[in-house]
Amino acid sequence: MLFLIQLLASILAFISHGHEARAQPANTYTSLVFPITKHTDTNPLYSIQITIKGVSEDYGNYMDPSKVSNYLIDIDAPIVWHDCIDYFQFGPLPISKCKDAQPYSYNSSSCPPLYLPNYEYYPCPVNVFNPVTRSCDDTYLNADLFEMKTSDGKSILSGVYRASVRGSCASRSSFQSFPKDVTGVMAFSSAPYALPASLGLYGEPLSTKFKKITALCLPSNSSTPGVLFVGNGPYYLPPNLDVDIRSLLSYTPLLKHPDSFGYFISVNAIVIKMRSIIIPVNATTKLSTIEPYTTLRTDIYTSLVRRFSKVTRRIPSAKPIAPFGLCFSTATNGTKVGLKVPNIDLRLHGGMTWTISSANSIKQMTNDVGCLAFVDGGSTSETAITIGTFQFENNLVVFDSENSTFGFSSSLLSQNTSCANFNFTITMDY
Ligand SMILES: *[C@@H]1O[C@H](CO)[C@@H](O)[C@H](O)[C@H]1NC(C)=O
Ligand SMILES: *[C@@H]1O[C@H](CO)[C@@H](O)[C@H](O)[C@H]1NC(C)=O
Ligand SMILES: *[C@@H]1O[C@H](CO)[C@@H](O)[C@H](O)[C@H]1NC(C)=O
Ligand SMILES: *[C@@H]1O[C@H](CO)[C@@H](O)[C@H](O)[C@H]1NC(C)=O
Ligand SMILES: *[C@@H]1O[C@H](CO)[C@@H](O)[C@H](O)[C@H]1NC(C)=O
Ligand SMILES: *[C@@H]1O[C@H](CO)[C@@H](O)[C@H](O)[C@H]1NC(C)=O
Ligand SMILES: *[C@@H]1O[C@H](CO)[C@@H](O)[C@H](O)[C@H]1NC(C)=O
Repeated sequence: MLFLIQLLASILAFISHGHEARAQPANTYTSLVFPITKHTDTNPLYSIQITIKGVSEDYGNYMDPSKVSNYLIDIDAPIVWHDCIDYFQFGPLPISKCKDAQPYSYNSSSCPPLYLPNYEYYPCPVNVFNPVTRSCDDTYLNADLFEMKTSDGKSILSGVYRASVRGSCASRSSFQSFPKDVTGVMAFSSAPYALPASLGLYGEPLSTKFKKITALCLPSNSSTPGVLFVGNGPYYLPPNLDVDIRSLLSYTPLLKHPDSFGYFISVNAIVIKMRSIIIPVNATTKLSTIEPYTTLRTDIYTSLVRRFSKVTRRIPSAKPIAPFGLCFSTATNGTKVGLKVPNIDLRLHGGMTWTISSANSIKQMTNDVGCLAFVDGGSTSETAITIGTFQFENNLVVFDSENSTFGFSSSLLSQNTSCANFNFTITMDY
């Protein structure tokens, strides 16, 4: 009897398996994928595009209209926010949900005091830090339904993924100093209301659970997009479609920092041509997608510039162009050639080295002048080192909140590829 039941069970399993195999898409997705646009009408900033399909209560009673908006990539923001859309300015959120979200509000004396609404489904106030104006903006919490594109790591798949995300909305004026057409901030921090952690919660299909991993590959210009993935990978960049670019990564632990859901690592030393600049043990290193250039506390900055001047003394110098302090003449009698300078190696906790080569250390300011793309952050700067976006360009960097690790590739240009190489052609997956 038991045998018969087992036999029956395995026949049923076989039939249902066969059925599933037919219904399953040929290429199943492993991550969400977004093209990254570089904006240069302001300080360099980077955005991705997301479609809001409507308001959702937690289980997807969504409605049109849909709205496509560009969101600034912010790996430090604890909460997603964007401009309010009249039709569903305030999503239907019960007070308990408001209470859960308010602790992720930006807490500063420049912000208005928060209150809990008196009635269910009344607007829930949340304060956010505006990374462009560096001030407080007051917003109201929503339940947004986001629609995003999926990938198998090689191309975009035709299947989309919808997720309910606690977005907050602000008045249009909050985005005045943002790059043109950018009207939101997409949070990629480790906070529970940031995008990576929001996906598994109310996504569709519910069975999919993306890993809380953000892989960022910033482009170096505005003409070709870079690529951002959320999810485990693999990730591929042509021309080499045999190599999962995760195999190029080195890892260092991500560090916890009080009062922040951003990403911090430990830099033990900066090495240039075998000489080390020692970093004080208590120095904090933050990673930022808002700061355009790596900012160093004055003591570290001074040591770096001194050492860099020494190893580049054969290159004619030029009058510094703000915000930089060390610049070079790149004019070689009419023929413009990129400067080739010694690498700057960041020696990280765990012994791994992040190599910053010329493309990420020298910013071409004019035809004739290139500058060391590091900035003096002042002697009292709270974070000793803030690694900014110029140093990320054409590097793959991975923020893994599952394992609390930070992965980095160093320049992909030396691997004969770049962040602009992802194949954004849509492939049918059914
Ligand atoms: C905000 O900061 C103040 C002063 O640091 C503190 O007393 C208060 O508890 C904080 N509020 C929240 C919600 O974290
Ligand atoms: C933009 O950057 C990509 C990758 O670095 C490069 O392949 C492309 O030629 C660049 N385009 C322009 C116009 O500079
Ligand atoms: C770091 O440690 C040194 C020596 O212990 C101390 O003088 C300095 O104030 C510390 N700096 C910070 C930012 O904690
Ligand atoms: C440019 O050419 C002049 C004369 O031909 C030469 O003296 C000078 O060294 C050259 N400059 C550089 C940077 O090569
Ligand atoms: C993360 O941790 C899991 C389990 O501990 C391990 O299997 C996986 O390889 C780790 N991933 C990375 C990128 O280190
Ligand atoms: C990149 O291309 C150059 C020149 O074609 C070649 O010498 C080098 O081995 C290549 N590097 C990699 C990592 O494929
Ligand atoms: C991009 O992907 C499409 C569909 O898979 C393929 O037909 C095309 O050849 C690819 N393009 C490049 C440059 O690899």
